[in-house]
Amino acid sequence: MPDNEALWLPAKGAAFRRGPAPYTRPKANEIVVRHRAVAVNPVDRMIPAIGGLILPWLRYPAILGSDVAGDVVEVGSAVTRFKVGDRVLGHAVGVEKARNAPSEGAFQLFTVLLDHMATPIPQTVTYEQACVLPLGLSTAACGLFQSDLLALRWPTAPGSGGGETVIVWGASTSVGSNAIQLAVAAGYRVIATASPHNFAHATRLGASAVFDYRSPTVVRDIASRLQGDRVAGALAIGVGSTGPCMEILGTLPGRRFVAVASPPIAFDTVPSGRGRLIGLARVLPRMAGATLALRRQAKRLGVQTRMIWGGALLGNEIGPMIYRDFLERALAEGRYLAAPEPLVVGEGLDQVPEALEQQRRGVSARKLVVRL
Ligand SMILES: NC(=O)c1ccc[n+]([C@@H]2O[C@H](COP(=O)([O-])OP(=O)(O)OC[C@H]3O[C@@H](n4cnc5c(N)ncnc54)[C@H](OP(=O)(O)O)[C@@H]3O)[C@@H](O)[C@H]2O)c1
Repeated sequence: MPDNEALWLPAKGAAFRRGPAPYTRPKANEIVVRHRAVAVNPVDRMIPAIGGLILPWLRYPAILGSDVAGDVVEVGSAVTRFKVGDRVLGHAVGVEKARNAPSEGAFQLFTVLLDHMATPIPQTVTYEQACVLPLGLSTAACGLFQSDLLALRWPTAPGSGGGETVIVWGASTSVGSNAIQLAVAAGYRVIATASPHNFAHATRLGASAVFDYRSPTVVRDIASRLQGDRVAGALAIGVGSTGPCMEILGTLPGRRFVAVASPPIAFDTVPSGRGRLIGLARVLPRMAGATLALRRQAKRLGVQTRMIWGGALLGNEIGPMIYRDFLERALAEGRYLAAPEPLVVGEGLDQVPEALEQQRRGVSARKLVVRL
């Protein structure tokens, strides 16, 4: 068995610690991947601070991380799509309630991936580029295509969107960069928001028009731009994005539904370790107040909202649609870009906490990546 090593989260609220980890062999529908690059996500730095709130089921010691790219080293008995040596990317789902398994977290050298949550990487795409995709892609796909969210037509039937328009608020985030591309691939027109320095990023990915989300007139500007369009709803990404999306949809005749990626307030002020409970006690009443205010706003405007869970697709039809039927060809044909661009923080598992710290300080249309 190969030697494995992981970045462990030993207990709720504890600090990450590097150490040996077992190598786990794949079950029938699984593959094992030796990582070459992993990316970090906001949730990875939130779990040490507020894991009890967002993942109450998580068993410790845990191995976090969702985004991996590497080489297949072993395949399960029922796997036919992959063979040893294939370059793949995948959404590692170890922290999901249905899995809850350290062997399936990304922050280690070898991870077990579900066959239907992995995709071959074409030669034109590097490991560093490939690993930016999984959680952002999964979250965007759940928000856009799940039947209990925006329920858009799928990109596996191109041109099916029939010219309807979708709002993607937060186009330069990882989730937004994927949402634009998926919606466009499915035949929808996208109206997006970002900072002005990221307008070109959003249009390169396919947005028809981009607006500055900090502009005091952004709601009015987007609403007037959408007059006469058939609107299929909005994907709200970024703290504070749900309210303006509801205001826009509330003035239009189309589908009044907001799929929500982000909580209404930021949890960045809650530290991990000492001070965590005091930080939580300060933030939770604000969270409750903001949630109540959004509920009232939704009622007043006649808009429905629902939170996205980016890991839900592991157990529904969206996972295979994206990772098995859509992504491989779209990447190989250059119709789908690994966006946002990777920014390599360093090499080795020790660099993951540094990447998380850099992410806490803020990124703009970049995904922080660690080589392994
Ligand atoms: N529900 C889920 O399952 C799920 C899964 C993944 C992520 N998320 C959430 O989705 C959000 C995005 O995550 P990510 O990893 O995609 O983020 P990210 O790439 O790290 O986000 C960085 C970007 O956020 C943009 N941004 C910041 N505040 C914004 C706002 N108020 N409105 C619009 N854009 C804003 C910045 O845009 P500019 O530089 O252009 O200003 C920046 O480019 C986070 O809140 C994250 O917690 C939720």
